[in-house]
This record gives sequence, C-alpha cells and structure tokens, in this order.
Amino acid sequence: MNNELANEIRSKCDIVDIIGERIPLVARGKNFFGVCPFHDDSNPSMCVSREKQIYTCFSCHATGNVFTFLMNYEHMDFRETLRYLGEKVGVDVSSIHIAKKNTKFDPFYDAYSFSLKYFQNNLLSKAGVNARNYLAKRNIDDSVIKEFEIGLSLDTSDDLTKLLTSKKYDLASLNQIGLSSDARDVYIDRIMFPLYDLTGRVVGFSGRIYKDNGLNKYLNTKETPIFKKGQLLYHYHIAKEECRLKKSVIVMEGFMDVIRASTIGVRNTVALMGTALTHEQLQLLKRLSNNIILCLDGDDPGVHATLSIGDMLLEEGLEPKVLVLPNPDDPDSFILHQGKDKFLGLLDSAVTFNDFKLRKLKESVDFRSEEETAKYINQVLIEAAKVQDPIRVEIMLKKLAKEFDLSYNTLEMRFREIEKPKPKTPKVVVTYQKKKKTKYEKAMEQILYFMLNNDWVISQFEKERFIFPNEESRLLASEIVYYYTTYGNINIPDFYTYVQDKEEVVNFLNDILASNYIESTTKDDLFEYFGVIREYSRTQEIKRLTKSLQKEVDPIEQAKIAEKIRKLRIGDK
Ligand code: UTP
Ligand code: MN
Repeated sequence: MNNELANEIRSKCDIVDIIGERIPLVARGKNFFGVCPFHDDSNPSMCVSREKQIYTCFSCHATGNVFTFLMNYEHMDFRETLRYLGEKVGVDVSSIHIAKKNTKFDPFYDAYSFSLKYFQNNLLSKAGVNARNYLAKRNIDDSVIKEFEIGLSLDTSDDLTKLLTSKKYDLASLNQIGLSSDARDVYIDRIMFPLYDLTGRVVGFSGRIYKDNGLNKYLNTKETPIFKKGQLLYHYHIAKEECRLKKSVIVMEGFMDVIRASTIGVRNTVALMGTALTHEQLQLLKRLSNNIILCLDGDDPGVHATLSIGDMLLEEGLEPKVLVLPNPDDPDSFILHQGKDKFLGLLDSAVTFNDFKLRKLKESVDFRSEEETAKYINQVLIEAAKVQDPIRVEIMLKKLAKEFDLSYNTLEMRFREIEKPKPKTPKVVVTYQKKKKTKYEKAMEQILYFMLNNDWVISQFEKERFIFPNEESRLLASEIVYYYTTYGNINIPDFYTYVQDKEEVVNFLNDILASNYIESTTKDDLFEYFGVIREYSRTQEIKRLTKSLQKEVDPIEQAKIAEKIRKLRIGDK
C-alpha cells in the first residue's frame, strides 16, 4: 500500500468533521468530546483533537486516526476507508483496488450470494407465476422486488442442495450455514427475503409462505457463524446514511414494514424482525441516531413491545418517541391503505415515550373508583420521578393537579417522597486495567510520546542510546526511528497508518496516547524523564557487564570490564 497516498488523503480531511458526521461532538477548549461508540457508555469520554488529528477514549482507550475510526465504526477495511475518504476530499483513488480479503467464511458468503441469484431467477421464471401474483396482490411491484432482491424457493425439495453440492460444497457445510438439512433444501416453496449483515452482505433469508398451506408464516435462517440475528438490524446498511440525513431512526417490527416505508421514501428505518430488542441491537440503534422513533405494530403485542423497548431505551439515557398506529395496523398495512401523507402526518405527531406510557396507563383505569384513581395518580408520580428535566416534572405535576383538582402542594409533597431512580452510571464494558506504572515506565511513555511529535527527542533517543524497560516500548521506539529516518518527518496520525497492522505496537501506542497526563508535560519534565531513563539504562548496563565479568576468564578483559562498571557507577561516561 502506498503510504504517501494514505498520508495525502489523511492530511486533507479533518477528523473532527468525519467523526462529527457520525456522533455528536461538543467543543470544549481545544478538543471535541462525544460519547464513545466503541463501548457501552453514555458519558462523553471520547476526545477528538483537531490539532493532533486523533481520537482517544479515556474510558476504553480506543484510540486512533481518522482511518482507524472509520474502519471500526463503519466496518470497512483500510482500502475501503482510503477509497471512501479519497473520493470525499478529491484525491484520485483509482489506483486503489479493493482486493478482497480472504477469510474462512468466504465460502459461506459465496453460497449465500449464489443462492440469492438462484432465488431471484426462480421468481422471474415460469415457476414463479403464483408467487408473482401474490406479490402483485400485496402491491409489491417489480422495482421493489429488484431493490429488496426478493426471490422464490422452488417446491422441488432439493434443487438448491443439488446445485450447491455440484459446486464446491459438501452437505455438512450446507447444513452448517442453514441452506440444507438432511440433503434437502431448508426453504421449500417460499418467497425469499434476503437478510443482510451490517455491511449489506446477504447472510440469511426469511422465507414467507404465499399459499394457504398451514405452515409457519415465516421461516428464518438459523443462527450460523455469519448470521446472528440478535446482532443485526434489517436494513441497517441502508439506514446508516439515511438516519444521518434525517437525524432520526424509525424502528419497525418486520422487514415488510421497512420495505413498504421505503416505497414512500421513508428509508431511515430498521426492522427488529420480531418484538424483542437485544442489547447488541440497542447499541446499533444508538449508532444510527440518538433520536429513536418506535413504530411497532398497532396491536396488543406491538403496544406491549413498545412499552418494554421504550423502558430499555430510557434506562440507556435515551428518550424515544412513539408513532402510534391504530390497532391492528402495522406500518405496512397503514401505508398501503391510508397512504403516504397520513403516515408522514403520524410521524410528525409522534409523542414522547413518556406521554405514550401515561396514555396507556390511563386507558386501564376506572376513574369512578377513588382507589384506582389514587393508584393512577401515584403511578404518574413514579413516572415523573424518572424524568430528568425539572421543568418537565413541574409541568407534569401541574397538569395532574389540574386534571384531578388537587392542590399542587399535596402532589409535590407526595412526589418528594418517591425515590428517584439514580441517574444511570455508565456501564463500561471494556474496562481498561490501569496497572500501576513504575517511574521508569512512566518516563519511557512520556519520552515515546514526545518522540512522536518532536524530531529532537528522536535524536536525543538515538544519541543517548536509552534502554527502555520493556519489549513493547523498545519495539515502538524502533518503529518510530525507522519511520522518521524513512520519511524525514513524523506525526501521530500518519504514524498510525504505518503501524496499523502491527497489533502490539498499536495497543501500546493507544495506551500511551490515552494517558491524559501527557497533556501537561513541559520540556523541563521531559529532561527529568531523560534523567530517569538514563539512570535505568545505566543500572541495566551495569547488570549486563557484571554478568559478563563473571563469565570472563582473561584477567586483562576482566580489568577492562571492571573499569567500565566503576565508571558507570560514578556516573562517568
Ligand atoms: P409480523 O407477523 O408482524 O409480519 O412479524 P409482517 O411484517 O406483518 O409480515 P406480513 O405482512 O404478514 O407478510 C414481524 C416479524 O417477525 C418475524 C419476521 O421477521 C417478521 O418480519 N416473524 C413473524 C417470524 O420470524 N416468524 C413468523 O412466523 C412471524
Ligand atoms: Mn404485515
């Protein structure tokens, strides 16, 4: 890979802009802060520096330059990142060929893309007449079929299995990836909806019956090494861009809902493929937008799911909105029967989750009963206690007082008795083990940090032949010296590009950059650190010489070594 091209591209983009397009950043002093997307957090522990062109999370120590951010955040490899950024900043990237990395799962992906084409062909063939009629009846036209790559599995029971085994696949692996079972096709005579991973590769299918044959409506691919349902959201790869533009993400139950919404131009949508939300999916949602709109089915299970998912999001420090559909519509049927404008109207009038919850609470109360009324009022107060904003709390209490003709003071007194849930303390999944550092290690890390920014520290390092206390620091130092002598200059973000494949170096580098004490080191401090390392180097050298003295048999050589040791001991050179 051409390092100069990478450096040119990097120098032309600003890491603050690129990260800022993805997560909200707030300026504080010289730096920008945001919630780190690489661990489970709701505090702004990620610092992005315009000056240094790097980011660092003080909590999980994720650190890097604009390339590493995009690679981790967008799940792109280095070349893809270069291509993407190069196009963005107007650097010619035609020379960068995206060579596919070979992974052990490639045959799985290949089997899926083969099956996808096969199913698509079936739908267009003579065997697909009835399925096409079914789709037409549901108002799914050819352009939708094409866009969502809808296909058909045949009723022949082993057609696909035979095709795949005639290629390079054996039955065991077809079984493993959920395409065959006991030498038979898993999907028989179903309309096939491909399911995508976060980058848009087909990794599974959901097959729908289209005849009244009493079978389960949908059959989904089982969990496989490349398909983990709880870690995916349907349509994520498309929604990614759309959510950024629309500044919100709409959550639906089924992929049919997402497909229908797409036909009216609403594409900032994802489907859960059911009514449960896993913790991983929640993290993915947060990545798409902090502004989450729940748009589940209007039936009872949908309402139930809205309540429980809404609570999960509240706990995460997010306040979702709810688009309320009439029972028993789902987004698909509502859009189909009521049209685009009605749906957009509902979207506009989406209520806060809090309001939704109170409304649902109210529906079940018989207000003729004093007991039930009092219970209801108490429950509203409990909900109010979860609201962080004191102004909103006051509004809620005033409304309640008015509605039930109670004095504000009585309500407030009761409200104050209710235990407030503690503000969520961030759960840090990746906790960084802060080892106590020896003074040598601390000095060495400071010197390494300064070597990355200042030529003269590199020269000093070479001149004095410092001996660093551990292997990883020696490795990093030698990489720095190598980079500097090769390119004639050094800076952190470009050095990052250079070492990115050397895992130990990157890890160590991240630790050094993430240690915040670095900010306040002065030149005087640095000279002190030199002193510490000098002392360390000297004691190491004395140890080494003492060992060789013990092995030495020649008395003249022995005397020479002893003299060296003596000089080192008194600090002479
Ligand atoms: P729904 O029953 O709401 O499906 O299930 P739908 O989107 O309205 O589909 P149509 O309109 O009947 O064709 C929502 C989601 O739950 C999963 C599917 O992922 C579906 O998209 N599901 C549902 C299953 O996995 N299996 C089933 O039998 C039913
Ligand atoms: Mn439906």
